[in-house]
Amino acid sequence: MSDFIRIKSSQKNYEVVFNKDIFDVLNVLLREDTFFVVDSKIYSLYFKHWVGIDALDKRLFLIEAEEKNKNIESAQKLIENLVTGGIKRNSSIVAIGGGITQDIVCFTASILFRGVPWIFIPTTLLAQADSCIGGKSSINFKSVKNLVGTFYPPDKIYIDSIFLNSLTKDDIKSGIGEMYHYYLYSSSDLAHKLHLMREEIFLDRSLLIEFIRESLTIKKKVIEIDEFDRGERRKFNYGHTFGHAIEALTNYRINHGQAVTIGMDLANFLSYRLGFMPESDYSFIRALLKANFPEASFSDFSIDDYCNLLNKDKKNVNANLTCILSRGIGKLEVRELELNIQNRSLISEYFSTEYSRK
Ligand SMILES: NC(=O)c1ccc[n+]([C@@H]2O[C@H](COP(=O)([O-])OP(=O)(O)OC[C@H]3O[C@@H](n4cnc5c(N)ncnc54)[C@H](O)[C@@H]3O)[C@@H](O)[C@H]2O)c1
Repeated sequence: MSDFIRIKSSQKNYEVVFNKDIFDVLNVLLREDTFFVVDSKIYSLYFKHWVGIDALDKRLFLIEAEEKNKNIESAQKLIENLVTGGIKRNSSIVAIGGGITQDIVCFTASILFRGVPWIFIPTTLLAQADSCIGGKSSINFKSVKNLVGTFYPPDKIYIDSIFLNSLTKDDIKSGIGEMYHYYLYSSSDLAHKLHLMREEIFLDRSLLIEFIRESLTIKKKVIEIDEFDRGERRKFNYGHTFGHAIEALTNYRINHGQAVTIGMDLANFLSYRLGFMPESDYSFIRALLKANFPEASFSDFSIDDYCNLLNKDKKNVNANLTCILSRGIGKLEVRELELNIQNRSLISEYFSTEYSRK
């Protein structure tokens, strides 16, 4: 039996549908005036031998889902291909892939003819548990991640856990990082449950559906009251300001959700050392987050380079860093942090000792 979560948005209400056979969905979409934009890896893994693929003919476009391709040039190329392929303003685009495919298609769909309907079939845990709702598109510009973007929700989202089977352990950890940031925002019991079930989840990915539903339910409540990120939704930047700079510094070798995991731990460390968060909370949350860190070490970089990247963060409104600090589970706050000598040395201390501490 399929079930769904309905999201209210000022642009259009839309649904996330769970437990529907994805090939049944595609067979229906195939008959419409639809254009498919598919992550090339997903195409090879799941769709190459699907009988419907021939019917797509000139309506199928593949995307190489790499961070360096999440830019305006890719959107421009996609527009060219779609227009050459005969897309009209009442056609639809079906995007199948993770957050990169989503960001490129969402951005393109939002500007082509001032808006073409689009449907999203997320294939990574991160995209299923987080990015698929909320309507944001984010495109990198030069060295700055997610500098350009729009708000343009899809018309429908279909979630099928079958795609999670081909993800690596680090891909799953990336999604878990984003799920934790919702659970720690709302003090969900699932934060601890997820920690206890980690090994089981790696073996049976269908167990993740309960956790995906919880993340989306938490996110839904906030985006429905603050769709355009002016108030409460800003707290979802927890771990992201510090995480984006880690992604950029490592040239995206560390994936998004694991960079966010380190980012949340650093935000908690600063909160604890600046006197906001009790040490007991810091240590408790640290145990959950530490299990989700990347295997590869991350410490051979200059703190000046790291702080320069923080300074460039698009959420800063003045010389200070706008970031999310925490007073404990469920108690996040938007704060301005001066990147003065004292705070720089705390960040340096975190990476030289705390980050690698058992
Ligand atoms: N728009 C938003 O609201 C939002 C929110 C969070 C993150 N993001 C963005 O999402 C991006 C990260 O996305 P992501 O982590 O979902 O993945 P991704 O799109 O970056 O893909 C990562 C890799 O996984 C592969 N892949 C995708 N699905 C797979 C599957 N089922 N099996 C095997 N391999 C698969 C891709 O081909 C790629 O090699 C970042 O650019 C981030 O900034 C956007």
